[in-house]
Amino acid sequence: MKVTVVGAGAVGASCAEYIAIKDFAAEVVLVDIKEGFAEGKAMDLMQTASLNGFDTKITGTTGDYSKTAGSDVAVITSGIPRKPGMTREELIGINAGIVKTVATSLIEHSPNVIIIVVSNPMDTMTYLTHQALGLPKNRIIGMGGALDSARFKYRLAEAVDCPISDVDGMVIGGHSDTGMIPLTRLATRNSVPVSQFISDDRMSEVLEATKVGGATLTKLLGTSAWYAPGAAVSGMVQAIGCDLKKMFPCSALLEGEYGLNDISIGVPCIIGKNGIESIVEIDLNDAEKAKLEESAAAVRKTNGLLNA
Ligand code: LAC
Repeated sequence: MKVTVVGAGAVGASCAEYIAIKDFAAEVVLVDIKEGFAEGKAMDLMQTASLNGFDTKITGTTGDYSKTAGSDVAVITSGIPRKPGMTREELIGINAGIVKTVATSLIEHSPNVIIIVVSNPMDTMTYLTHQALGLPKNRIIGMGGALDSARFKYRLAEAVDCPISDVDGMVIGGHSDTGMIPLTRLATRNSVPVSQFISDDRMSEVLEATKVGGATLTKLLGTSAWYAPGAAVSGMVQAIGCDLKKMFPCSALLEGEYGLNDISIGVPCIIGKNGIESIVEIDLNDAEKAKLEESAAAVRKTNGLLNA
């Protein structure tokens, strides 16, 4: 498969690196607007191929989208990242224009491409991409839930004091500090509810730490995180490329699912060769439903800024 990653910054480069290391794609094209930057990142990554044992070919281009022609999947990471103290929503002004231009350029050269949107505010950028391209809804996917769920599992394992591979959990809702909904009720440790191992108070701490997972890192790093975002994207790209039909919470355009319409927000999706193969409707309790509605209202508010 051929994958394009737009934005050769930390998230884009990380994403290309993890895709290459997993060795399932024939080609990754990195695109950036900064002269020579994508070419440089691609060359540096290619010089790890013999060391890390992958055959994926990585190339870079300064804005020449003809090089991306025939891509099966494209990842949009372009735009400005948040700085400490900023919310993802504050990036909308600059990033909306960038994402729209990038999405239009991608589709010109790869009419069948499946697009994964990473740029923030992610749910709104995913909605904007739907609006701008009018593609079938399965072909535009927002990356947030896979990352937030990985952060949830990290916090769960820390609280339970067990290996991360022993815990399972999922985060739905908007990819924002207030909109995320870690499904604590459904979290398990080897199929046993996590609530059996930690107190309600400790679970509340896990929930809060998960929701501000991105902000905590932004404060520590001075900019937005990249390893876990890159790994989350690479997992989704692999699920598409290898038709894994793997479940990830993704920002999907809803048409009645969960009682919501005309919004892109995080819900569990089956990801395979067609992108979003289906949306999984899990039985939420009343409190969880109320939180999802609240989260959707906040995403709609940010979507409203698109045409402001
Ligand atoms: C984060 C950015 C990618 O959560 O939104 O780290």
